[in-house]
Amino acid sequence: MKAYITKIIDISEERINKISLLIDSDKKTKIEKYHNKKDKIRSLIGDILIRNIIIKELNIQNNYITFDKNKYGKPYLLKYPKFNFNISHSEEYVACAVDDEPIGIDIEKIKIIKYEEVAGRFFTEDELNYILREDLEDDKQSKFYEIWTLKESFIKCCGKGLSIPLKSFSINIDKYKNISVNDKQNKYKLKSFNIDEDYKMAVCSNNQITKEIITIDTTSLINNCLTWTL
Ligand SMILES: CC(C)(COP(=O)(O)OP(=O)(O)OC[C@H]1O[C@@H](n2cnc3c(N)ncnc32)[C@H](O)[C@@H]1OP(=O)(O)O)[C@@H](O)C(=O)NCCC(=O)NCCS
Repeated sequence: MKAYITKIIDISEERINKISLLIDSDKKTKIEKYHNKKDKIRSLIGDILIRNIIIKELNIQNNYITFDKNKYGKPYLLKYPKFNFNISHSEEYVACAVDDEPIGIDIEKIKIIKYEEVAGRFFTEDELNYILREDLEDDKQSKFYEIWTLKESFIKCCGKGLSIPLKSFSINIDKYKNISVNDKQNKYKLKSFNIDEDYKMAVCSNNQITKEIITIDTTSLINNCLTWTL
């Protein structure tokens, strides 16, 4: 498996329109409906990031790439069932993971929120206790986002969205930092990453998870995609 990350940059409306011609018309329509320009850019960069990876890994041209979605909205690449991917975006970052098994990725910017309230609603008692065990407020906040991203990466790996109740499974992190989820077959592996002090990211897969995250330069990504065939 491989994990990639790229930073959001501002893109002119003219370029957004040009790049939008390179993606599926459904996705283009979805992106056009976003009122916030940053939301447009995040989603667009996610799409060209995965296209760029597919072009390189599968050696096919952009116009041969077709995505579909499962009934819970998880996108997948048509005609290549062994190629699995998942995308996540939060504020300044877009992250993507690819694997030959189902995969889930989640990135979140750490924000000051009433984490006890959110964790009380969505986390199991064990997960909540893992956070509250910390003395310092910053550490509690950080652990909250660690659990949050791990839970999301698990849900996204399963691909069933929020039809999986968030309290129906529990993330466990032991004193050696080994991470597991209480799935019956014990097939999921999880890893947490600190991208920088403001962002947590997590990956969930049936395969071993890489330690290394590949950083993609966004300007080069955009310049490169403008050379693709329509
Ligand atoms: C949609 C969901 C899959 C992820 O939402 P999110 O965390 O807001 O968004 P992310 O940026 O991580 O992921 C969005 C991407 O996931 C992919 N995606 C969409 N549906 C998906 C699904 N069912 N499974 C996996 N991936 C999915 C898409 O590529 C999407 O990108 P796009 O919108 O640009 O096409 C869903 O799990 C959700 O709504 N989660 C929020 C739950 C929550 O409130 N959690 C609180 C504490 S755990």
